[in-house]
Amino acid sequence: MSKHISKSESDTINLGMKFASSLSQGDIIGLSGDLGTGKTHFVKGICEYFNVVDNVNSPTFLIVNEYSAMKDNHFFEIYHFDLYRIKTTNELINLGLDNYFNKNAIVLVEWIENAENFISPNYFVKFSHGADENERIIEF
Ligand SMILES: Nc1ncnc2c1ncn2[C@@H]1O[C@H](COP(=O)(O)OP(=O)(O)OP(=O)(O)O)[C@@H](O)[C@H]1O
Ligand SMILES: [Mg+2]
Repeated sequence: MSKHISKSESDTINLGMKFASSLSQGDIIGLSGDLGTGKTHFVKGICEYFNVVDNVNSPTFLIVNEYSAMKDNHFFEIYHFDLYRIKTTNELINLGLDNYFNKNAIVLVEWIENAENFISPNYFVKFSHGADENERIIEF
């Protein structure tokens, strides 16, 4: 893991793009850190790298968003979870997680803290607030 300092939303998006270049289909990425530390902006960067044209935002009413991604003329799905509102293991079970974890998709999980015993990511990205209002520390 190394520490990256972001000074703006676009820094965070660029870090997401850079991180994405090492990903491949089948990867599961856990994103953790306080509210407003930039997880969703980082996800926007990952999605930009994979040519997603759908709107990338935290799923508000649903727990997971599905995007069509494309790399090297090859199409696949990105699943973007936000588990902030998950309170019980039953809620997790009811999501039918198994349907999302397959070798063709890339799965991004915000608030992975809320599913520690259910989801085993092969990458972790940690977010925290920095010294001033627009600074974020992103470790991966
Ligand atoms: N360096 C930065 N990188 C990313 N966002 C920043 C930065 N500086 C300020 N911001 C602001 O912080 C907020 C980050 O929001 P974002 O939705 O990406 O966070 P999040 O970690 O996904 O939050 P949540 O836990 O609520 O889903 C935005 O309002 C953004 O404008
Ligand atoms: Mg978010």
